[in-house]
Amino acid sequence: QDAVVFERLYLTPQVSNGRRLQVSPSRWWSDRGCTVWFTGLSGAGKTSIAFELEAYLIQHGIPAYGLDGDNMRTGLNKDLGFSKQDREENIRRVAEVAKLFADAGQICLCSFVSPFAEDRELARRIHRDNDLPFFEVFVDCPLLICEQRDTKGLYQKARQGTIKGFTGIDQPYEKPEHPDLVVKTIDSTIEESMLHVVEMLQENGIVP
Ligand code: PPS
Ligand code: MG
Repeated sequence: QDAVVFERLYLTPQVSNGRRLQVSPSRWWSDRGCTVWFTGLSGAGKTSIAFELEAYLIQHGIPAYGLDGDNMRTGLNKDLGFSKQDREENIRRVAEVAKLFADAGQICLCSFVSPFAEDRELARRIHRDNDLPFFEVFVDCPLLICEQRDTKGLYQKARQGTIKGFTGIDQPYEKPEHPDLVVKTIDSTIEESMLHVVEMLQENGIVP
């Protein structure tokens, strides 16, 4: 089989744009880096779907990496809390990191509550300005169900007032108006939801 030739757009100015690389098929990796942005209430299933998808993609030889509050807020963003301002900065930094992953040819899977539409729009813009595909996936689950699940016991604390500014309780969640995909987790399994995202990536030529 002939070598695969593809063009990569490098963000670092020192590297020329659109440089052509040749890779033998056995060494082929995805040149279709992009970011899939999962937004939704705490407990909606964002992280579960994203990490199921990460495993699926890697099993199919497609490099993918998941970012979420658990790996970003403990390191790079550990100076940030949950005020509107801090959430904005959290999303901005995550989007900048995701942009680099996508530029490196990875499918970057971001799972963040990201409750404010303008912050998600900023994340989209950061990608668009660099010609990197960005897909917003609304992980839609009613507050009542998330609260019943209460996987981390945080809703109870928010109701008791121990946690202030909890999304859906005493801070708003602005539903996406034009997401690229909506997955409803109330009566589908994690795997079914994950496969909907795969279909979206296939329709957009990201994965075969
Ligand atoms: S944001 O809004 O995008 O900056 O939030 P994110 O980085 O995704 O972090 C949300 C996770 O932190 C836990 N947590 C809270 N969520 C919402 N509001 C408040 N006040 C809050 N405090 C802590 C919560 O477990 C979120 O994780 P997930 O996985 O979404 O449940
Ligand atoms: Mg999570």
